[in-house]
Amino acid sequence: MTPEQLRQYLTFYQDLGVKNVYRRTPATKNQTVKTPVPAEAAAPLPVPVELPALQPADDTLRKISEDIGDCRRCGLCQQRNKIVFGSGNEQSRLVFVGEGPGADEDAQGLPFIGRAGQLLTQMIENTAAKEGIPIHRPDVYICNVVKCRPPENRTPLPEEMEICGQFLFRQLMVIKPKAICALGATAAKALLATKDGVTRMRGKWHSWRDIPLLVTYHPSYLLRPYNQDAKREAWEDLKKVLHFVYD
Ligand code: URA
Repeated sequence: MTPEQLRQYLTFYQDLGVKNVYRRTPATKNQTVKTPVPAEAAAPLPVPVELPALQPADDTLRKISEDIGDCRRCGLCQQRNKIVFGSGNEQSRLVFVGEGPGADEDAQGLPFIGRAGQLLTQMIENTAAKEGIPIHRPDVYICNVVKCRPPENRTPLPEEMEICGQFLFRQLMVIKPKAICALGATAAKALLATKDGVTRMRGKWHSWRDIPLLVTYHPSYLLRPYNQDAKREAWEDLKKVLHFVYD
């Protein structure tokens, strides 16, 4: 098992709240069992192993970015140009989480700067202005579940989300926002471990590690011409999250 595989394995257990795992003592080379014994008795005694902290006590966004480094942990590294870490106010009370970078984001290394990103910016700024909330896009923090562009903008694979998810979780733990807004099904799945669709989950409060989380539609979905109802609902969702955070 490589150190990276071990780390992913431990992350999985840590997310389940497991603090200790038990490892069997390896049998020594010359160990021989002379008399037949029941299998349980012959098995070496398990040894408790304390799981190492996956999140450094004094974690920072800079450390997380350094840990990502020139990441080669999954296949997405093969076709990416730039890693898209996240951008905005690092002390923001509100974090938006999207799915993964598209072509424009991959070229510039910044999240949500293409068509979907322009729509997201308008939604944040216009809703805030209409509702009398004095914020602009740079006041919030925006990042994605996966930091490298999936080829042809396909949905990230579960293993890609799991590997990159550890960095998203660390980002959220460092920022500790008052609320998270999950944009679309991939973000909702990554943060809530749910199979429910966005239509079912949107507009309601959920929680990620005690931080209130609202799910809404992904802006790319809202760019499709026939989704008028979804657009109206997304504006409602945004009003809800902005008032919750900034009132
Ligand atoms: N879509 C996303 O989910 N994230 C981006 O950064 C851009 C488009």
